[in-house]
Amino acid sequence: MKQPLIVANWKSNMTEQEGLQWLEAMGQTLAETEKQVVLCPPFTLLPSLSKEIAKQQIQLALGAQDISPFAHGAYTGAVNGTQIAEFASYVLIGHSERRNYFTESDEQIEQKVAMAKKANLVSIECVQGKDTVIPEGVNIVAYEPVWAIGSGKAESPQQANEVATAIKAKSAVPLVLYGGSVTAENVGEFTHMDAIDGVLVGGASLHPQQFAQIIQNA
Ligand code: PGA
Repeated sequence: MKQPLIVANWKSNMTEQEGLQWLEAMGQTLAETEKQVVLCPPFTLLPSLSKEIAKQQIQLALGAQDISPFAHGAYTGAVNGTQIAEFASYVLIGHSERRNYFTESDEQIEQKVAMAKKANLVSIECVQGKDTVIPEGVNIVAYEPVWAIGSGKAESPQQANEVATAIKAKSAVPLVLYGGSVTAENVGEFTHMDAIDGVLVGGASLHPQQFAQIIQNA
């Protein structure tokens, strides 16, 4: 049976201390699972978490939540691919919150995908529907209907599977995740769908107990 990919997106939550406590609480679950788990914390936590993960040899990959569309240079506030690659191997691109609150355009998203590729980062592009533009070079797509994010109302697994199938038919992307109000209760229904390869979890990933249950039930 295929092992699902489970990606946690902490968004703008967690201090360094809280992040390290989460890691400690998750240790046992991560040691016991064969599922691939990726954590995307805020940039500020990447160095200390990656150090701790290496020290304790924890089975957990790290990802960034965003990437600069530029290389290094005079771009105040931006974190570039080379800098991310020092600590992480994945990167989320084009999350609907970035598109909405930071007015990210399809063009910028395309540049970000190119920068991720240059830095050898695995790009996870978040798309809001089957018609969202998927640039060349995207490694993984996460289908996240905007209304399902943080609302407690997930998409139906059948509907999500249809969108995932359509995405695979129109692009060369081999892996499609579902995201939007994923919980320990509904995760298995998504990961059992044939076109869905895993999940992207926001709110429920902040709580070690809930997230451990999600990993178990996926
Ligand atoms: P949610 O967020 O699980 O809190 O709905 C998912 C996401 O935005 O990635």
